[in-house]
Amino acid sequence: MSQLDSLRKHSLVVADTGDIDAVARWKPQDATTNPSLLLTAAADPRWRPLVDESIKRSAGETAAAMDWLFVLFGREILKHVAGRVSTEVDARLSFDKERSIEKARRLISIYEKSGVKRERVLIKLASTWEGIQAAAKLEREGIRCNMTLLFSFAQAVACADAGVTLISPFVGRIYDWHRQARKVDDIPIDQDPGVESVTRIFHYYKKHGYATQVMGASFRKTGQILALAGCDLLTIAPDLLQKLSSSEGEVERKLKPEEAKRQSIPRIELDEKSFRWMHNEDAMATDKLADGIRRFDADARRLEKLISSFFLEETYPK
Ligand code: E4P
Repeated sequence: MSQLDSLRKHSLVVADTGDIDAVARWKPQDATTNPSLLLTAAADPRWRPLVDESIKRSAGETAAAMDWLFVLFGREILKHVAGRVSTEVDARLSFDKERSIEKARRLISIYEKSGVKRERVLIKLASTWEGIQAAAKLEREGIRCNMTLLFSFAQAVACADAGVTLISPFVGRIYDWHRQARKVDDIPIDQDPGVESVTRIFHYYKKHGYATQVMGASFRKTGQILALAGCDLLTIAPDLLQKLSSSEGEVERKLKPEEAKRQSIPRIELDEKSFRWMHNEDAMATDKLADGIRRFDADARRLEKLISSFFLEETYPK
């Protein structure tokens, strides 16, 4: 049996990509996108018809074309998954609760206009204090949220308290930061701070009975994925899905709710001030959250430019 098939016995496997052919190939339960992945997909000639359609529906507005593009990719991806697709809110709104809520409602309304029920969509928001509060409100309206750019334990605690559907704690970017800080080429799996972060969050959630699902994200190597077998979900890029699929072997379950129950893990109460303090105490998380927002924003701006360049073409005068 392949490692991928064996892993599927312990965790729901999700595809982390905007490449619809890859989703069709790997048949994951869910799929996740982000602005960087959609920039790559939109620049790929295979998906040009989706870009063209989003421009047609945008009435000449780049912002509307971006919303439509995200939704049209999401809708196409949903044809190949039984579960949900994650669509990210503009990173520029990361510190604006009200505008994040508006953007999420707009994306959901476009999905619904396009025939996709809201239950099949997870709105991705950055795990800033404002993003988490936006998610708390959206969840009460029946809009399910996936909290992204999650690096610190404080972010995970606040997301669970907000009652969000799902969090995406990042592994690879934590590993990247520590590799750079320690000036080493690699960190062994049993000392990997990204793996440790997700394990700690998983144990905290299961110990205290939170319903929020934990989806490990941002992987750099298969060892990180296998070390988190048993996590509720794991979102994996196509190159790593390929590696797992071509490696034989039984995957041992590593994360177990019953083990969490046996541990003594104190519950943490956070308000805005203590959240900000605790998150700020974590230099890696502070750096990576800020960097992640800048990177998603930069790719969204590149995507806007790409769309604008298509607007300029004769067929779609602006
Ligand atoms: C998924 O939700 C994340 O956006 C993704 O896993 C980030 O991965 P990266 O760190 O490889 O960009």
